[in-house]
Amino acid sequence: MKAVILSGGFGTRMRPLTYTTPKPLLPILNKPMIRHVIEQLPDPVDEVILAANYKIDMLRDYFEEAEVGLPVRVVDEPKPLGTGGAVKNVEEYLDETFFVINSDIISSIDLDEYLEFYKSKEAVGAISAWEVDNPEEFGIFELNGKNKILRFQEKPEPWEAFSNTINAGHYILEPEVLDMIPPGEKVSMEDEIFPLLVDDGLYGFEFQGYWVDCGRPSSFFEATETLLDYIGEENLIGDRSFVEGEVKENTVVGVDCTVGKSTISRSILFDGVEIDNGCTIENSIIGYDAIIEDDVTVKDSIISDNTYLEDGQEIVGKKIKPDEVD
Ligand code: GTP
Repeated sequence: MKAVILSGGFGTRMRPLTYTTPKPLLPILNKPMIRHVIEQLPDPVDEVILAANYKIDMLRDYFEEAEVGLPVRVVDEPKPLGTGGAVKNVEEYLDETFFVINSDIISSIDLDEYLEFYKSKEAVGAISAWEVDNPEEFGIFELNGKNKILRFQEKPEPWEAFSNTINAGHYILEPEVLDMIPPGEKVSMEDEIFPLLVDDGLYGFEFQGYWVDCGRPSSFFEATETLLDYIGEENLIGDRSFVEGEVKENTVVGVDCTVGKSTISRSILFDGVEIDNGCTIENSIIGYDAIIEDDVTVKDSIISDNTYLEDGQEIVGKKIKPDEVD
């Protein structure tokens, strides 16, 4: 069985970090978010098909080096084709029931259970289903008592929402669904294809635990807190990192970092970051190999890879772009 992982988006909401790293490779708990997804795949999956476009060479290089326990075929999409067009573009590799999964979802879904659920239905497809309090920010659907999807609604007004069940971003599909997607065109699976499948048997698989869409900086923090909580740790310090100062809760320090007598709280330092003495880093993400000199304050900010912050600066509520981007 194949699992298609959608990895071709530009990740605009995660800029400036995605100027230099494709979103699927951004680290959560010191591991690219796409690896969290791959590690969840159930035994029947014997190959990952990566539908990629933006910064595809970085994805290729990563999977040539990394041991992820499964073969990963990185397939180039000549231009971004949307979630449906991306799956159509890898059609030649899909000849039996397959998974399609977003690369930026961190969740506790049990994909084995999901597959068993799917096999028990007469279905052409299934969508993972998650309950939220704020359905107006998402695409929602309605299930009947047998978990069959009856109808969809995109970002409803709060008073119009007919359910709190959102599309959680893991699909199981039959190859015949591919016949409904025109080739070479930008097509949204969620908006254009799923509504067409309602009469043919489309099911929603509900699960409990946690679900975080890591497409936004705020959800990046949420995913970090959720996973730290899940593993019962207050913070995480990467291998070969040296910390003299104080690392408070909900903070992740990457590998090969150096932190002097400084205080880091609710922040994420990517690998190779150097922070000298007297700094306060709060509620911020610091990109790869950034250097922060003495007595710098960084609050509510995102600092690009390789940024150099001189002594005494105060950065509050800013996104510092990499030098090469205007
Ligand atoms: P934003 O620009 O911040 O909205 O991020 P994004 O481009 O990643 O879009 P979004 O978060 O909606 O994407 C959800 C998932 O679909 C992610 O795993 C993306 O990598 C993937 N995705 C989005 N658009 C495309 C596309 O055109 N082609 C492919 N192959 N994947 C896509």
